[in-house]
Amino acid sequence: MPEARPATEPHRVRVGVHADHRVGRVDDRVFSGFLEHMGRAVYGGVFDPGSPHADGQGYRSDVVEELRSLRPAMVRYPGGNFVSAYRWRDGIGPPETRPRRPEFAWRSIETNRFGLHEFMGLCDRIGSEPMLAVNLGTAGPAEAAELLEYTNLPPGTAVADERVAHGRRDPWRVRVWCLGNEMDGPWQAGHVPAATYAERARVAAALMKGLDPTIETVVCGSSTWWLPTWLDWDRIVLEHCWDEVDYVATHRYSGNHDGDTRSFLAEGVVIDEHLEGYRGLLGYLRARRRSRHLVHVAFDEWNVWYRETNPDGGWREAPPLLEEVYTLEDALVCAQYLHAFIRHADLVRIACLAQLVNVIAPLLVRPEGVLTQAIAWPFRMLRAAGGAEALRPVVVAPEMATRRGDVPVGDAVAVRGDDGRVLVSIVLRDPDRDAELQVALEAFGPLRLADAFVLTGDPRDANTWEAPRRVVPRPLEVDVVSGPAERTELRARLPGPSHAVVALEPAGPTTGSR
Ligand code: AHR
Repeated sequence: MPEARPATEPHRVRVGVHADHRVGRVDDRVFSGFLEHMGRAVYGGVFDPGSPHADGQGYRSDVVEELRSLRPAMVRYPGGNFVSAYRWRDGIGPPETRPRRPEFAWRSIETNRFGLHEFMGLCDRIGSEPMLAVNLGTAGPAEAAELLEYTNLPPGTAVADERVAHGRRDPWRVRVWCLGNEMDGPWQAGHVPAATYAERARVAAALMKGLDPTIETVVCGSSTWWLPTWLDWDRIVLEHCWDEVDYVATHRYSGNHDGDTRSFLAEGVVIDEHLEGYRGLLGYLRARRRSRHLVHVAFDEWNVWYRETNPDGGWREAPPLLEEVYTLEDALVCAQYLHAFIRHADLVRIACLAQLVNVIAPLLVRPEGVLTQAIAWPFRMLRAAGGAEALRPVVVAPEMATRRGDVPVGDAVAVRGDDGRVLVSIVLRDPDRDAELQVALEAFGPLRLADAFVLTGDPRDANTWEAPRRVVPRPLEVDVVSGPAERTELRARLPGPSHAVVALEPAGPTTGSR
């Protein structure tokens, strides 16, 4: 909990939510994750046959358990930069015959002990859908189509029969396919100009959809706003393969580079701008083509990442890379990413927290156990928003001065599930001041409080192996006034900075407090 702070007048933050002000359904896949062959994400993370925690197949059961409870809807795999020089066939067949390779992206040694079948086994264990990326860097459309034949086609053709020979008769029917990774980045193996990539991606998508028309494809858009090709790359690529693709991928990693918490906590404003850039571009391209086809955004890498920026594996197996220790302020930025995706539910259909285990991850693994980092909590607290209807709240809040301009101290989203449950989520950005929160819910019928939690503390607080529960959500005291059936009012005192989620459920007309 935060240190006692000087008594200052709290902010007044008012949130109004009306049941009819709908944005669209929050795709459950906005709560997805990412697992790359990088550092100790796979080896020493999810997979460690030598560990006393390993099950009979080598998966770390304690890590699997944590991932099950995090519930990523999909897991993107195998990269990341890794995929752009990856030969997927290295990861199939008897493990003892798989090649050991120098790994280009992270200068590591890849044993290939973990491959496609092991990844599918992981997805089964954690209850997530697989999302596969193909190599469009050093490989190309033909190899991508063969991978699709291997995973999705029934027995009876050469490559599908290889799968059967390796012990899996039924196709996995992987639905979502990334056409490469960050191909706009000069750091990427096989990076080429936008027009060259666009043709590669178009041919790959056409071949793959020709083999399995049920799949959805994700084309590489801009991986970062600071490249000179930002959004123009996307325009060129989408002009060329609009009809073959269903999503455009974009990535963003945030960081408190200047040690300025106040400005860092304004990051949500920039994430919204990032998405609005895509809304404009996609609307323009669709209108210009007079197309009925919709392309949505797959924000398939997002997180805070800035402490270690040039990872180098030194040609070792599973070197520890990017094992960031996350703080409360990082978690509050993650909450704002999720808010932005919920607010743009009509635009963003997929989003992957990058990554899941050890490498810039909500879970850190040691031989003796698993540590849940601060950034896991907003994901968990908001997870129930997946599949619910996003609503458009009105937020009335004072502004605070930051390097990003004057920014409202409060950021809020709200959703309603098919079961009538309502979630209201608020980030209080001001690190130095509390807020008196007032939420008015209109036209939902009578509601009663189900749960209310708040994640707060000193912005630099982190969970560590010594203090693993320093940053965890605590119950939030909320006063509920359920007046006439059409209006419910909540009041709470929010500590600054914080992330609070209040859940309500349908009820008879009662008045109560908690
Ligand atoms: O997630 C780490 C790396 O960040 C990924 O491999 C790459 O796609 C991005 O640049």
